[in-house]
Amino acid sequence: GSVAAVLPAGGSGERLGAARPKQFCALQGRPLVSHTARALERISWISDIIVVVSLEHIETMKSIIQKYGHKRITVVEGGVTRHRSIFNGLKIFAENKLSNCPLQKPEVVIIHDAVRPFIEEDILLKVVKAAKDHGAAGAIRPLVSTVVASSADGCLDHSLERARYRASEMPQAFLFDIIYQAYHQCNDYDLDYGTECLHLALKYCKTKAKLIEGSPDLWKVTYKRDLYAAESIIKDNLS
Ligand code: CTP
Ligand code: MG
Repeated sequence: GSVAAVLPAGGSGERLGAARPKQFCALQGRPLVSHTARALERISWISDIIVVVSLEHIETMKSIIQKYGHKRITVVEGGVTRHRSIFNGLKIFAENKLSNCPLQKPEVVIIHDAVRPFIEEDILLKVVKAAKDHGAAGAIRPLVSTVVASSADGCLDHSLERARYRASEMPQAFLFDIIYQAYHQCNDYDLDYGTECLHLALKYCKTKAKLIEGSPDLWKVTYKRDLYAAESIIKDNLS
C-alpha cells in the first residue's frame, strides 16, 4: 500500500524567538522546512508530502516550493495546536478537498515534524513496517533528565524512575484509517493539550503502538542553540 507523510509546520516558534517561525529560518541558504521536505522527497516510496502551515504562511510556503523546486508537496492550512494542524493535514486525503487534484488516501501515514531535518530512510522503514504490523509506531529516545511532578505548593510530589521511561520523538507512522478515526473520536482536551499521538491511537482505536529506538540526530529544533547546531551539521554535510 501507499505511504504519505504529513509535516506539521504550523507553529510560531516562540521558544526559539526568531523574527519568523523556526521552520522558515534559513540554514545555509535554505529554509529549515525545505531541508526536511527534501530529505523526505529523496525517499521514492513516499508518495505525497503534506506540509501544514498557518494561514499567514501559506504564500511563504508556496514560494519555498517554487524556489527550491519541491515536487511532491501539498500545502494545507494548520490549526491552533499541533494536533489540529496534523488533523487538517489528514483531512486532505479523506475529504477530497482538492477537487482539481485529488490525493489518493494512503495505507500508512508518516507524521514528522518539519523542524527535525536529519531524517533518514532506515528509521522511516522501521516505523512504517511497525505501523503495518501493529497499527501505530513511533520513535523513542532515552530521557536526558529525570521527570518530576510538583504538588500545589511547588515542591516535589514524586519523580519517575528515569530508566523505565522514554521520550516520545519522531517520526511516527499510523495506518491511515486508525489515526484518522482517532482524531475524529478524541475530544477537545486531547486536541488542545497535546495527548501523545500514539496514545490517541491506543485510546480510541484499541490499536497497539510499537515503540522503535530513535536517533539522536532527530532531535527537535526548539531553542536558538538547536538552530546553530543544525546549521553546523548541514554545513559539514555540504563540505
Ligand atoms: N506545529 C503545528 N501547528 C501548531 C503548533 C505546532 O504544525 N499549531 C508544529 C511546529 O511547526 C513544529 C512541530 O509542530 O514543526 C513541533 O512543535 P514545536 O516544536 O512546539 O513548534 P512551535 O509550536 O512552533 O514552537 P514553540 O512551542 O516554541 O512556540
Ligand atoms: Mg509548540
